[in-house]
Amino acid sequence: MKICHTIDEMRAVRVAARGVGKTIGLVPTMGALHEGHLSLVRMAKAQCDLVVVSIFVNPLQFGPNEDLAKYPRNFDRDCDLLEREGVDFILAPSVEEMYPAGAVTYVTVESLSDKLCGRSRPGHFRGVTTVVSKLFNIVQPDRAFFGQKDAAQSTIIRRMVRDLNIPVQVVIGAIVREPDGLAMSSRNAYLDVPQRKSALVLHRSLQTVQALFDQGERRVQTLIEAGKQAFGRDPSVQLDYLEIVDPETLDPVDDLSRGALVAVAAFVGKARLIDNLVLPGNT
Ligand code: PAF
Repeated sequence: MKICHTIDEMRAVRVAARGVGKTIGLVPTMGALHEGHLSLVRMAKAQCDLVVVSIFVNPLQFGPNEDLAKYPRNFDRDCDLLEREGVDFILAPSVEEMYPAGAVTYVTVESLSDKLCGRSRPGHFRGVTTVVSKLFNIVQPDRAFFGQKDAAQSTIIRRMVRDLNIPVQVVIGAIVREPDGLAMSSRNAYLDVPQRKSALVLHRSLQTVQALFDQGERRVQTLIEAGKQAFGRDPSVQLDYLEIVDPETLDPVDDLSRGALVAVAAFVGKARLIDNLVLPGNT
């Protein structure tokens, strides 16, 4: 496994791979890897000749009062995990390499970037789409792999790829959960033992919505209210949003016949966690 710290090194890898007709899969990450990331790596390995994993904690997608400074970082452990998965290349650029002084160009997916997490985290999705488009330009992957846990991010990246005709196939991997249902996230590392227990409420609220839906409930407000009520009154948990939206436009829906995304975000202590489920449409 080779570690590329510069864009030039990565480009040379890309040129060589193209020269011998090899396909490249890219798994963009911010490190602090868990089974969710590794499931994407395995998908990439199964679908591509060579796999690149980028590890870059992207300052552009963090707000001024967010957790950039304390975001979990464990580069050596990440490298060991990726080596064991048989990853071919890690791209681990510095902030200066990615954003040289004077960089003033951004990629924004208008009208989607201020929905769901974008509403609570202004500028977040602009940071994501800017860094992901840079990674796409640097690595020029045939396929890129993202997790369904960040459902809005996946929608926005797919729209960016479509709108800008970026020649990459975006593949979305299923949410990977702990045995008790908590969606895997690097930010779970912030939780102490009681908070870890409290955090299960996100999954529980989605299960409440799913159960009602399975019983035939189709009134969106009823489903939302039931999901919110599942939060109860735990003082360590603060619900940010629970919304039922169109998976493509991220706009709230009142008709579930074409399927919908139920997305939830909450602070548990200082950790901001997200989760979601997809309700199927009428077939
Ligand atoms: O999902 C993430 O970890 C990040 O948003 C991504 C896609 C690696 C961009 O920094």
